[in-house]
Amino acid sequence: MDEREQISILTRCLDQAYNILRREYYEMRPNYNYYPFIPMHSRAALEELIIAQDHFTKLGMDIRALRFLDVGCGLGNIMEIAGGIGFQSFGIEYNEGLIHKALFTTFKMDKKVLKNEMEGVFFGDAFKFNFYDQFNVIYLYRPVRDPVLEGKLEQLIENEMAVGTIYIANDKIKPIEKSSKFKVLLRGKRLPMWIKVKNS
Ligand SMILES: C[S@@+](CC[C@H](N)C(=O)[O-])C[C@H]1O[C@@H](n2cnc3c(N)ncnc32)[C@H](O)[C@@H]1O
Repeated sequence: MDEREQISILTRCLDQAYNILRREYYEMRPNYNYYPFIPMHSRAALEELIIAQDHFTKLGMDIRALRFLDVGCGLGNIMEIAGGIGFQSFGIEYNEGLIHKALFTTFKMDKKVLKNEMEGVFFGDAFKFNFYDQFNVIYLYRPVRDPVLEGKLEQLIENEMAVGTIYIANDKIKPIEKSSKFKVLLRGKRLPMWIKVKNS
C-alpha cells in the first residue's frame, strides 16, 4: 500500500470521528440561519494546504512565520492540519461549545496583537472581525447557510484581505473568476484556490 492510500485511510477515520461530534452539536444547537459544524474532508483540505505551503516555500518564505485563518473553524479540524504543516493557525467561530470542545486558546474579537500567538480561535461573528488583512492564508468552507449572507461574507473577506494572501474558498457562492483582484493559484487544477493580486 503506498503512502497516498495510507493517508486516505487515516483521513477517512479522522472524518468519521469529527462526524460523531458534529451530530452531537447538530442535535444540541440547531440554528437554521447558519450551517452547523460540517467538517470539510480532511484529505481535500490537506492537499489544498500543501499547495499553499509549496507556494510560499518557492517564494523563500518561512511557513512558521505565516498565519493561517479558518473562517468558521468549528472544532478546529482544519486548523489542526494547517498547524501540523507548520503555519501559525487561527480560526473564527461563533459557537462557543465547539471552541471549548476543541480546547484552543480563545481570543476576544478585538484582540489586536497576534505577534506572540502561534494559534487560537477568535470567539464571535465573522462579519464583525476586523483583521482579515493580517493573515497569509484565509480558508473557508461555506460557513453561512443563507446564500445572500454567505455572498456578503465572502465579499467582506475578499475586500479586506491583503495582497499576496492565498484564498481557499470551498463551495464558494460568489463568482470570483472575473475579478481582476484575484488570480487562480494553479491553472488547470480546478481547485477553489486564488491569490489576491491587487486591492482595486
Ligand atoms: C461548514 S462548518 C466548517 C468547519 C470547518 N471550517 C471545516 O472546513 O471543516 C461552518 C462553521 O462556521 C461557523 N459559522 C457560521 N457562521 C459564522 C459566523 N458568522 N461567525 C463565526 N462562525 C460562523 C459554524 O458554527 C460552523 O462551525
